[in-house]
Amino acid sequence: MPRFDVLSLFDGYFAPLRSQGICRRAFDSGALQLQIWNPRDYATDAHRSVDDRPYGGGPGMVMLAEPLERALDAAQQARKGCGLDPAPVVLFSPAGAPLRQADVLRWAASDGAVLICGRYEGVDQRFVERCVDVEISLGDYVLSGGEIAALALLDAVARLLPGVLHSTESAQQDSFSDGLLDCPHYTRPPRDAHGGEVPAVLLGGDHARIARWRRDRMLRLTLQRRPDLIAALRAARRLSARDEAALSATD
Ligand SMILES: C[S@@+](CC[C@H](N)C(=O)[O-])C[C@H]1O[C@@H](n2cnc3c(N)ncnc32)[C@H](O)[C@@H]1O
Repeated sequence: MPRFDVLSLFDGYFAPLRSQGICRRAFDSGALQLQIWNPRDYATDAHRSVDDRPYGGGPGMVMLAEPLERALDAAQQARKGCGLDPAPVVLFSPAGAPLRQADVLRWAASDGAVLICGRYEGVDQRFVERCVDVEISLGDYVLSGGEIAALALLDAVARLLPGVLHSTESAQQDSFSDGLLDCPHYTRPPRDAHGGEVPAVLLGGDHARIARWRRDRMLRLTLQRRPDLIAALRAARRLSARDEAALSATD
C-alpha cells in the first residue's frame, strides 16, 4: 500500500482529500497513507523563513533549500521507521514530464513517494539537483503552487487502489487505461424531455454487441480528439484488425 509524504507550506489543502468521496475510502481503509510536512517547521531563524529574494534580481521569492532538505530528511526517516526504503522524491514543476495514467498506475503499485510542492517562483535549483529524482507537470499552465498537482496525483492513485472503487472494472474501462479515451455513457430515461435518445444497442441486452459498440466509440472518439494516442497504439501493435476496420469505417 503506497505511502505519500508531502512537503507543503499550505497543508490545509490536504484535509478535504481525507474526508471526501472516493479518496476518503482509500484513507479509511488504510489503502493510502499520507503525511504532510511543513518546511516552515524546519526553518531555523526567528522568522521561520522558508523563502528569500532571487539572486540576480527580478520579481518574487524562491524557496530556500535548507528547510526543504531538513523536512525531506524527516520524511525519509519517518518512512524508515515504518520499515520502508527511502522513497523517490518528486517535485511538481511546469518543466516536469506531463503526468500520465501509466505513471499513476506505477505510483499506485509502488511504496509511494515524497512529493514536493513548490511555491513562489519555485525552489532553489541546488535543492532540485541534490534531492529531486523526478519532476512532474500537471500541464502547460502555471499554478500558484504544487499542492493542486499533488492532490491530482493522490486522487488518481487513490481510485486505483484495491477496494476503493466499488467495481475494479470501472477503473479498467476508464480513459487511458488501455490507451484510448472512454466511450460516451447514458442513464435513464431512455428518451429524455428534449427528445434525446439512448443508442438502441445499449437497451438491447446483447452484451457482446454492447462491448463492440463501446470499443468502436472509444476508437472513433480517440481518433477524432487524440490521434496521437491512436498513433502510439499502432506503433506498439496494440490495435487488432477489427479495431483498424472500425477506425477506417470512420474515415
Ligand atoms: C507560481 S509556480 C512557479 C512557476 C515558475 N516560475 C515557472 O514559470 O515555471 C509555483 C509552483 O507551483 C507548482 N506548479 C505550477 N505550475 C505547475 C504545473 N503546471 N505542474 C506542476 N506544478 C506546477 C510548482 O511546484 C512551482 O514551483
